[in-house]
Amino acid sequence: MTSVYKKEVWNEYAMNFLAVTPSKMLELNKAVASLAYGEVCDFGCGAAKIAPFVLDNAKVTGYTGIDSSTEMVKLARWHLMHFPEKPSQVIQEYLEVINKANIYQKEDGFDFGLSINSYYAWDQPEAILTRIYHTLKSNGRFVLVTPNQQLDMEAMLPEARRELVANPYFEGFVDQNRSISENNKAHLVDMDMLVEQVRGVGFKIVEVNQQFYDRGLNFLVLSH
Ligand SMILES: C[S@@+](CC[C@H](N)C(=O)[O-])C[C@H]1O[C@@H](n2cnc3c(N)ncnc32)[C@H](O)[C@@H]1O
Repeated sequence: MTSVYKKEVWNEYAMNFLAVTPSKMLELNKAVASLAYGEVCDFGCGAAKIAPFVLDNAKVTGYTGIDSSTEMVKLARWHLMHFPEKPSQVIQEYLEVINKANIYQKEDGFDFGLSINSYYAWDQPEAILTRIYHTLKSNGRFVLVTPNQQLDMEAMLPEARRELVANPYFEGFVDQNRSISENNKAHLVDMDMLVEQVRGVGFKIVEVNQQFYDRGLNFLVLSH
């Protein structure tokens, strides 16, 4: 099987990614964080950029991030050291092999799952969605956010440049974003197909929208 992205892509991207957050990305992270509650798991967490906002939500009791990239995990752990008020952990693991026993050491699973901009990179999206489904509590929620074909990165860059041109990591962030988005093996699926897939796995649809990134993101709120 060929993989959508080589693992080096995420390791090389990690520092630029943590250091650069355009306001559209921040707005998205805050919106997802505001929906979270209880024990939260972030599937494909990267550098855990959303974690401070998740942990700041009074309804949240703890945060677990999972990612396969060694550099992303290293930076996520460093990042979380600055927000020690609630329990958090980052597990280095492929989502293809997760189950309740290897990622959740307490009772019966996570209350709330989220996955932002990771699905498009998964070699077998349905297999991973099934794994995620089984790591959540029987009344758990899951928010899945992933780009579709309408995502126009070039159109979003001028605004990001106005905000971040003085950030020393900005140009690297732009170059790597371009090369990541130019990969034609990425799974940029439309909303109908995504809805069919998540239903096939067992999720129920609570809400779907395309209000972020100028309609370039599919945003799904799902229940068990
Ligand atoms: C663009 S980053 C997004 C990170 C984070 N969700 C965010 O929005 O800040 C995509 C992440 O998905 C992770 N990823 C992709 N495929 C994965 C897999 N099969 N198992 C675990 N992590 C994966 C990558 O390592 C990378 O850190």
